[in-house]
Amino acid sequence: MSGLRVGSFESRKQAEIKKLIENLGGVATVAPSMREVPLEENKDAVRFGEELLAGRISALILFTGVGTRTLLEALFLKNPKEKILAALKKIPIVARGPKPVAALAEVNLKPTVTVPEPNTWREMLKTIDQKLPIEGKTVAVQEYGEPNKLFLAELKARGAHVLQVPVYRAEFPKDTAPLKNLIHSVIDKNIDVLLFTNATQIEHALMMARQEGVAQEFKKAAQNIVVASVGPSCTEALQKFGFPVDLEPERPMMGALVARAAQQAPALLQEKKKRADIVISPIASKNGGDELNKSLFLKACRREKTERTPIWLMRQAGRYLKEYRELRAKVEFLELCKNSDLASEVTVDAAHRLGVDAAIIFSDILIIVEPLGFKLSYQKDEGPEISNPFREKNDLKRLKPVEPDESLGFVYEAIRKTRRALKKDIPLIGFCGAPFTVASYVIEGKGSKTFSLTKALMYKTPEIWHNLLEKITDASIAYLNGQIAAGAQAVQIFDSWVGCLSPEDFRAYVLPHTKRLIKNIVPGVPVISFGTQNSGFLPLLKQAGGDVIGVDWRIELDEAWDMLGDVAIQGNLDPQILLSDEKIIRAQATRILNQAAGRPGHIFNLGHGVLPATPLENVQVLIDCVKQHRAH
Ligand code: CP3
Repeated sequence: MSGLRVGSFESRKQAEIKKLIENLGGVATVAPSMREVPLEENKDAVRFGEELLAGRISALILFTGVGTRTLLEALFLKNPKEKILAALKKIPIVARGPKPVAALAEVNLKPTVTVPEPNTWREMLKTIDQKLPIEGKTVAVQEYGEPNKLFLAELKARGAHVLQVPVYRAEFPKDTAPLKNLIHSVIDKNIDVLLFTNATQIEHALMMARQEGVAQEFKKAAQNIVVASVGPSCTEALQKFGFPVDLEPERPMMGALVARAAQQAPALLQEKKKRADIVISPIASKNGGDELNKSLFLKACRREKTERTPIWLMRQAGRYLKEYRELRAKVEFLELCKNSDLASEVTVDAAHRLGVDAAIIFSDILIIVEPLGFKLSYQKDEGPEISNPFREKNDLKRLKPVEPDESLGFVYEAIRKTRRALKKDIPLIGFCGAPFTVASYVIEGKGSKTFSLTKALMYKTPEIWHNLLEKITDASIAYLNGQIAAGAQAVQIFDSWVGCLSPEDFRAYVLPHTKRLIKNIVPGVPVISFGTQNSGFLPLLKQAGGDVIGVDWRIELDEAWDMLGDVAIQGNLDPQILLSDEKIIRAQATRILNQAAGRPGHIFNLGHGVLPATPLENVQVLIDCVKQHRAH
């Protein structure tokens, strides 16, 4: 990390981490964020000692090395050492990781149960479930800093009586000047990499930033630097507070963290800088920045209040429009997508004619498969077809990387032209297919009802599956950021077929990829994550990220929104309703608007694209109805 400016909030091992960073060529700023305070009068430890000697404790759970040592010392202070050790030998002891194990070994104790890596409370709970019945038992939990409420709740849910044994508290260090200075250095762009070795560091840094009145600036600045976390618990805390986690070593150790950061930070940083440059140019300056930012659609994406609900429709430029059908009689679909003048014209005409609040660039989610190395064609009435589908490991070799500025240049060109032709206050949405939907297409070679080939590859050869999804995700990241650079104000990810999966399969085979895709979109550009038939796993979908979640009509909008919580929502009229009549359309649209009840962050849309047989008047009735509606 030669020359990189590396910040750390490490406290106890301040000197050690400084040396590690400097040995690898980094410029280190280490500002202790906490002080471990042994409880002078440790009443909880004393009480635990009494209960233990009286035989009323059934199991002991140890979280940390320092905590274990401090607890033992406190116990030995008040009670004969031999008695305490004999009592501890009689009960099962669960140790979270190698550090409490080492602390126990110092007094010749061995844990009855150890927890596998990555040693978070989740593994801890799993291990307890497998090896230690706790129902009706009194379980003592040695605590580290803030109590882990989720873990304690899970223990109680299993019928255990929990005795919390806090053995030290973390406070701010006596001298808080270095901590404040490091926070301001991050804000002033004088830090390139931030290292975190435990969850308390981010809690304390943010607490101090809040005290200084700069928490938002601190968070924002962290988006543009490399944030490295030592392991899953730390990552979870960082993400909870909205910090991006860019890297994590394979093993949760300080040395491995610094080594991994040295390896990856320079490239990551460059990538982030490149993206930061891209955002500023087209969106803020050339494309009329302020007017767009104040548009109903972008306000709703940000969950700001709007005077009415914005509306646009998936497939608003398509076969239900006479002009589109006439054009298609002359030009093949793929040719239309690749002709930036025509694609732009189709996009702009539809948006202006309908008077909707956003335009979506005319293209298709499968356009990306050509530069990836697949042969794509659109058969009349049969939809897209791939003549050389992906079937086995060897096919990985023919997947090509997609660069943001090359093979898909016609899409970027269409976006530039559209942006110039579109009304100044109408945002333009870029899009791509989600990794799962694109993967299933390249595997099946065409549409499918059962997704048998996709699922067979996924279950039987998960490494090939993940490898394929990684490559599609890489390409999609470059593609969406390319569209943003060309002038798109928001992006939508279409996971039209993800509903064929069980929640557990979505979590295992798809979530990490969709999550990585969303995380790597230029910061500040709203991401709409759209799927169909996925109401069985909306909370999981939310975990993938996105500012707006698109839902279909198979779930009530208000119910979906309650499940999703603090995001904007898009949807969710059944497109078939547009084949009925004015009265029904108005009634059904009003029902959805009433469910949203004027809460900021609703974007009206269909639950899937406009159907080719839809009468244009009906589309106009819907748009009129939504535009007239005012929440009471
Ligand atoms: O929403 C828009 O108006 C933007 C353009 C757009 C198209 N397809 C144009 C299109 C978008 C965002 C898509 C997304 C897309 N494409 C999805 C995800 C959303 C969904 O509808 O589920 C999928 C699965 C595809 C793949 C695809 N493209 C299929 C299965 C088909 C054939 C079926 C069909 O609807 O025609 C296409 C062709 C296609 N894509 C057309 C259009 C306007 C019709 C082509 C024609 O003019 O004949």
